[in-house]
Amino acid sequence: MSQRRILVTSALPYANGPIHLGHLVEYIQTDIWVRFQKLRGRRCVYVCADDTHGTAIMIRARQEGRCEEELIAEMQRAHERDFAGFDIAFDNYGSTNSPENRRFCEEIWRSLRQADLVVERSVSQLYDPQAGTFLADRFVRGTCPSCGRADQPGDSCQCGATYTPVDLVDPVSILSGAKPEIREAKHLFVQLEKLHRFLDEWTQSGDHLQPEVVNYLRGHFLHEPLRDWDISRPAPYFGFEIPDSPGNYWYVWFDAPIGYIASTQQWCDRFGEQHADWWRSDQTEIHHFIGKDITYFHTLFWPGMLHVAGFSLPAKVHIHGFLTVGGEKMSKSKGTFIRADTYLKHLNPAYLRYYYASKLGPRLDDLDLNLDEFVAKVNADLVGKVVNLASRSARFVQDLGLAAEYPDDGGLFAHAAGVGDEIAAAYQECDFNRAMRLVMELADRANPYVEAAEPWNLRKDPSKTKSLQDVCTVALNLFRQLAIYLAPVLPRLAEQTGQLLHTPIRHWDESKTPLTGVAVAAFQHMLKRVEKKDVDAMIEDSKEPEIAEPASAPQWQDSDEPLKNEPLAEMCTIEDFAKIDLRVARVVAAEDVPEAKKLLKLTVSLGGDVQRTLFAGIKEAYRPEDLVGKLAIVVANLAPRKMKFGLSEGMVTAVGPGGQEVFLLRVDEGAQPGQRVH
Ligand code: MSP
Ligand code: ZN
Repeated sequence: MSQRRILVTSALPYANGPIHLGHLVEYIQTDIWVRFQKLRGRRCVYVCADDTHGTAIMIRARQEGRCEEELIAEMQRAHERDFAGFDIAFDNYGSTNSPENRRFCEEIWRSLRQADLVVERSVSQLYDPQAGTFLADRFVRGTCPSCGRADQPGDSCQCGATYTPVDLVDPVSILSGAKPEIREAKHLFVQLEKLHRFLDEWTQSGDHLQPEVVNYLRGHFLHEPLRDWDISRPAPYFGFEIPDSPGNYWYVWFDAPIGYIASTQQWCDRFGEQHADWWRSDQTEIHHFIGKDITYFHTLFWPGMLHVAGFSLPAKVHIHGFLTVGGEKMSKSKGTFIRADTYLKHLNPAYLRYYYASKLGPRLDDLDLNLDEFVAKVNADLVGKVVNLASRSARFVQDLGLAAEYPDDGGLFAHAAGVGDEIAAAYQECDFNRAMRLVMELADRANPYVEAAEPWNLRKDPSKTKSLQDVCTVALNLFRQLAIYLAPVLPRLAEQTGQLLHTPIRHWDESKTPLTGVAVAAFQHMLKRVEKKDVDAMIEDSKEPEIAEPASAPQWQDSDEPLKNEPLAEMCTIEDFAKIDLRVARVVAAEDVPEAKKLLKLTVSLGGDVQRTLFAGIKEAYRPEDLVGKLAIVVANLAPRKMKFGLSEGMVTAVGPGGQEVFLLRVDEGAQPGQRVH
C-alpha cells in the first residue's frame, strides 16, 4: 500500500531584504505544522527557496557594483542562517534562479501556450533613458494627475487616487533623476478569464481555502470577468528570458511559485524520489502557507497554472495575518522592525516560537507582538509551569532513576493522555493558540501535585526514599508528556527531555505511556527566564534613523562641557602610564553597603582564583544584580586602602560627574579577565 504524502511550502522570501520577525510568523507557523505531522508519523516534506528575480535585485546589484548572482548568493546564505537559528527545518531550500526552476517554467509556459491562454499586447511604460531600463511603479515619482500634489509614487497618491505611472504629471525616475520617456513595448498576457469556470469551482467549493478567503475572492475578483495578467517584462530584467519571445523575461511572479515545484525536484534528486509522486499524484496533499498580502497569486493565478499544466492542486492554502509590534506597524525608527539576526543576538528562539504559537489561530487576523506580554507569557508558562516540573524533581532522582512501576498519581497522567487527541486536532487545524492553552491547562494540574508532595522535603528523610522516587517519577512523566505535546513548537526542549530520561522523543503516541525504570541524567538547565533588559537591548539595537543623514552633515554634536570642567592633565611618558596596572576583571559578586550612601561592594576576579574586593561609588547608577557577570576595567596595583566597611584592594574605572551619572568602563566582547590594558 502506498503511504499518503504531505508536501508543505512557505512563501519564498524575497532575496532583496533580510528576514525579520514579520516573516517569522509564517516560517515558524509552517515549521510547527510540519514538525507536528512528522511527529505523528506522517510522511511530510517541507520545501522553500529564495525568490531572487525582478527589478529590485537588478537595481541593487547595479548600485553595489556587482552581479546579481553574487548578491543573491550572499542573501541566501544570510536567510538560511537566520532560519536555522530559529530551528526552522526545511527539507530543501532552493533558489528560483536554478536550472530546475527554468526547466519547469518552460514546461508550464508550453502548457499555457498550448491551451491558447497567452496573448501579446503593446504596453506604454515609462522608460529611464539614463538608467537604460523600464521603470516599475515604485521607481517613479511625480505630480498626482488628480489633485496636483507633488512628489507622489507611481501608482497612487495620498489623496486616494490610483493611476498608472504614465498618467503622472512631471514624472521623475528615482534611479537617475532623469525625466522618463513613454515607450511602447510588447508584453505577454495570460487570459485568466478563460479559466473563470474552473477557478469559481475550485475556490468556492471544497476545503482548500479559509471561509473568509472564499468570500474575499468572490467579492473582489470572481464576480466580474478576470483581468488578463501581464506576465512578461522587456529587457533589461533579472530573470529568465522567455524562449519563444526573445528580449522578454518572465515577470518574477510567474517563476516564483514554480520555485515550489523546482525545490521539490532538488529534494527528489537528493533522495532518489520520483517528482511525479509529489506533484502529480492524488496520494500527495500539497499545503501552502502564505501571508494575506499574496492571496491573489496563490488562490487564482497559481491554481490556474497548475490546472492547465496538469500538476496537483493544493489541498489547502493556509493564509495568515500580518505582524504588528505593540499594536503598530513595524517601524525602523522605533526599533520594532526587528531582524531575525538581531533577535538571535539577544534572545532564545524558543521564546518567539512559543509566543507566536500561543497567538496563532486558523483565521487571518493580524497578530500583535506585545513585548511585555511576551516576557510575561514565556516566563509564566514555559519557565514557571513547564520546565519547573523537571527542575524541581529531576535532580532528586539522579541516582535513583524512575520507579520500576508507574505510581498512583490520582489519574493525572491518564487524563493528560486523554487530552492528547484534542491537542493534536488543534495543531492539525493550525489552531496553535488552542493547543497551547490545552497544554498549559495540563501544566496547571501537574504543578499542584508536585507542590503538595514536596519532593524537596522528602529527600531530607532517608526513610522516604521510595516516596521521593515515586513523586519524581510522576513529575517527570507529566513533564515529558508536556514536552511531547510541545515538541513541534519547542524542538530543543524535546531533545533535552530525551537526554534527561535517556529516551529520545520520536512519536506523538509516546505521550500515552509513562516511562518507568529508566536512569535520569544530571539535570541541565533547560530554559532561562526572559529578561526584560535583553528585550530592551534588542529594540535599541534595531533602531535606525527614519531618514539617513546626508553623508556630509556632522554626525555627532558633542558638548565641550566635560573638557571645560576638567582640563587635560599634564603630559606624561609611556613609562608613567605603565606604572598603572589596568586589568580586565569580571564582577563575581556585588552587594549593597547599606551604611554608605554611594558605595557598592564588588568582588572581582582577575581569572583563575585571583580575586579582589573593592568599594565603588556607583550605587546610584547601578543595581548590584546587573553587574554580576559583567567585565570591568580595574586598577589592579593600587595600594590597598582601609575603609570604614573593610579593605578596598583596587579601584574600578568609571567616568562621569557622579551620582546617577556614572558610567563604568566596559570592554568589547572577547576580552578575558586578567588581561592588561596597554
Ligand atoms: N517573494 C514573495 C513570495 C513568493 S511565493 C511564491 C514575497 N516575499 S516576502 O519576503 O515579502 O514575504 C514572504 C512571506 O512572509 C509572505 O507570505 C508574506 O506574507 C510574509 N510576511 C512578510 N512580512 C510579514 C509580516 N509583517 N507579518 C506576517 N507575515 C509577513 O511575498
Ligand atoms: Zn492626488
